[in-house]
Amino acid sequence: MITLGIETSCDETAASVYDGKTILSNIVLSQIELHKEFGGVFPELAARRHLDHMLLVIDRALKEAQISKNDLDLISVASSPGLIGALLMGVNCAKSLGLALGIPVIGVNHVEAHLFANFLEFENEITFPALGLIVSGGHTALLYLEDKNNSKVLGTTLDDAIGECFDKVARMLDLPYPGGPEIEKIAKLGDPSIFNFKTPKIKNRPYDFSFSGLKTKVLYTLFGQDGIDGKKQVPKSSYPDIAASFQKAAFSSLINAINEAVENLNVNSILVGGGVSASSTLKQMLNTQLLSSVNVFIPDIKYSLDNGAMIAALGYHKFKQIGASNENLSASPSSRKHSFDFCQNS
Ligand code: KG4
Ligand code: ZN
Repeated sequence: MITLGIETSCDETAASVYDGKTILSNIVLSQIELHKEFGGVFPELAARRHLDHMLLVIDRALKEAQISKNDLDLISVASSPGLIGALLMGVNCAKSLGLALGIPVIGVNHVEAHLFANFLEFENEITFPALGLIVSGGHTALLYLEDKNNSKVLGTTLDDAIGECFDKVARMLDLPYPGGPEIEKIAKLGDPSIFNFKTPKIKNRPYDFSFSGLKTKVLYTLFGQDGIDGKKQVPKSSYPDIAASFQKAAFSSLINAINEAVENLNVNSILVGGGVSASSTLKQMLNTQLLSSVNVFIPDIKYSLDNGAMIAALGYHKFKQIGASNENLSASPSSRKHSFDFCQNS
């Protein structure tokens, strides 16, 4: 069964072809340059750019996979969560293509797909029960995965998502969007012990996260506490130290939650997913700072940032479990789910 995966939830137009075992192509057209001047994603422009590039990207994915559109058996599309205009472009395109080709279309949850990306590379190594850590631009969550099809949310962020927090702090440090990789870059030149940013912790909620206090602490450090007159009180030469100290505090809160969960729950693996998992600093901390030896799985960067391969793989898996209903498929900006079950409807 050949599946086409389509991803347009934010600022990447992506398409991928999956045959149930192997990713045959994985094309991603990033809009980063378009949004850079706004310091973040401009939703209407994102949707328009998806419209411009969608067919081109699908065409390239088919060509690279060396198949024709008539070889497709299933279309999987990210239908939530994300920017509504952007999501609608992908969903509309998927439904039209499905109708024209007479094949089923399935909608999948983008956040779930980030975690599912691990099965593309590590299907045979992952053993359950497992922990799932989602760290993206819009979501931060810790999950208990009983098996591939049963999960429970242990905790989420109570305010900002971790990627969002990196992007906002980067802006304060005059770094371009997306901020995560930029912060990591300058943090390498800094000393994480210079600024004492406390690791965020929520009383009696070891699995929940909070990043807005940390973000505010960076703001106060830069501009002072008594009103913002736009004048920075810290020299530019200290930015690498701020970035390193911030990054350490943000990632330490993830490490603490995982350590707590590993101590209390009997898990064999940890699956990490979402754009922030592209950070080599986070990878290194996960490899060196966990208190128990549990196998940690993190997708390769081509599957950790937004991509169509994870959408194709999850859609294929779900279709095998529950089938698809083309008529009822629509897009939703927010996740309607309180759990992430790889076999349930999105
Ligand atoms: O998963 P993703 O591509 O999009 C969403 O689903 O939101 O994640 C994008 C987020 C951005 O906030 C970006 O700054 C962050 O991932 N990110 C990083 C790194 N690379 C990307 N954050 C920290 N360090 C990185 N190296
Ligand atoms: Zn994403």
